Formats: sequence, structure tokens, C-alpha cells
Amino acid sequence: MLNAKLKEIVEEIHNSELRAKVGDFLENPTFSLDGKLYTGPSFEASPGGLAHHHTYQGGYVEHVWATWKIAVALCDVAEQVYGGKVDRDLVAAGVLLHDIFKPVTYTMNEKGEFASSPLADYLDHISLATAELVRRNFPAELVHIVAAHYGSYGPIRPRTIEALVVHLADNVDSQLNGQVLDAAWYLTRKATGEGLAKMNSKEAFEVVRAKANEGWNGVQTTVDKINQERKSQKT
Ligand SMILES: [Fe+2]
Ligand SMILES: [Fe+2]
Repeated sequence: MLNAKLKEIVEEIHNSELRAKVGDFLENPTFSLDGKLYTGPSFEASPGGLAHHHTYQGGYVEHVWATWKIAVALCDVAEQVYGGKVDRDLVAAGVLLHDIFKPVTYTMNEKGEFASSPLADYLDHISLATAELVRRNFPAELVHIVAAHYGSYGPIRPRTIEALVVHLADNVDSQLNGQVLDAAWYLTRKATGEGLAKMNSKEAFEVVRAKANEGWNGVQTTVDKINQERKSQKT
């Protein structure tokens, strides 16, 4: 069963052929190379990154969902303010598939800790997805969106409005999430001396808000509260 949030985005694809192809790929996001089949953690378990953003369980789906919301806002601006035309089917498919092979570049142990997978020693998630999209005969416009989603830092810069929208949305969400995680880590370390490890987005936003509303005492209280909640979830 495909994750409900991802499914909601799939349903935004009006072209039935493209929708079916994207759906099929999402149902079976494995990569085979040299006779070996590689699978990663599920979309629900996977983080969206190991170091900079969405570094916790569930981060992958959160990132795709947030990227979609930002991409829709960018499509609205492109069309309603600038009078451009955006193919929203391609944007939805691009958002859904841009990081589809991030999970295969991760491993997860019994404690729920993530690390880089053996496949990641050979190829990055963009090369993997580009190769698989070509193998599955996806349209060139969609392969381009995925290949160009790192903007100037990737193998090719965005050359269509759809690729630009996905790149910008991806970038904005990575920064929104990553910078709040960084700020929360800094604040909890300053308030408690050791900091609160492995915060998720909800916890990090709560910490930053507590500092703005109640100062350092608020940070301390929030850290205590989060630690209590974590303990009660374990038991
Ligand atoms: Fe990516
Ligand atoms: Fe991404």
C-alpha cells in the first residue's frame, strides 16, 4: 500500500498513462545493478537526508509532501502573476520521483539509526533515478526534472519551467527544514549543555518557538518535555 500522502500527489497527475507509470515505480522502488537487487528502508521509515535536512524517521515523506506544497505555490505564482504556463502533471511526477532512490542509499539498523548503504558508494540518488527513469521509458521532460533538481550543483541545470519549479521547491524545503533543525540543535545545546540529539521537525519547531516566546527557560522546559515524551513512547 502506497503511503497516503504520496498517493494524494499521484492523484494530482491527470494524464492516466503518466499516473500509472509513476504509481508503478513508487510501488516498487528497487534498483538492480550487476545482477543484484537493492532495496532501502520503506518511504515511511526513511529520512530525507543523513546530514543536512529531514534527518529522522519519516523525513522522506515529509520532504516530498512539503516540496509538493511549495511547488504548487510556485506554479500559482508562475501562472497567476507572471502569466506563464506550467505542466502540473510533470511537476507532480517530478516531485514524487526526484528523491525516489534516496532510501536505497540508506541502511537502517534495529535501533532505527541510519547510515549510508553499499550502493551509495557507487552512485548518488540522482544518477540512480536518472538511470532507472530511462530504463523505464519515462518521458525526457521528466527525466530532465529529476536530473536537474540540484540546480547548479547537479549534472545539468534546469532548462524548463517545470524543472526549475521542482528544483526551487526542493531547495526551499531542504533549507526550511535544515535551518530549523540546526537552530534547535544550537539552542538546546546552549540551554542544556549537551543538546537534544536526533530531533524531528515537530520537536525542532517547538524548540525554536519556545525560545522566541519564553526565552532560554522556554527552551529548557521544552527539552524536558520532549525527553519525557520520548521516555513514555519507549515504555
Ligand atoms: Fe535530491
Ligand atoms: Fe529532495
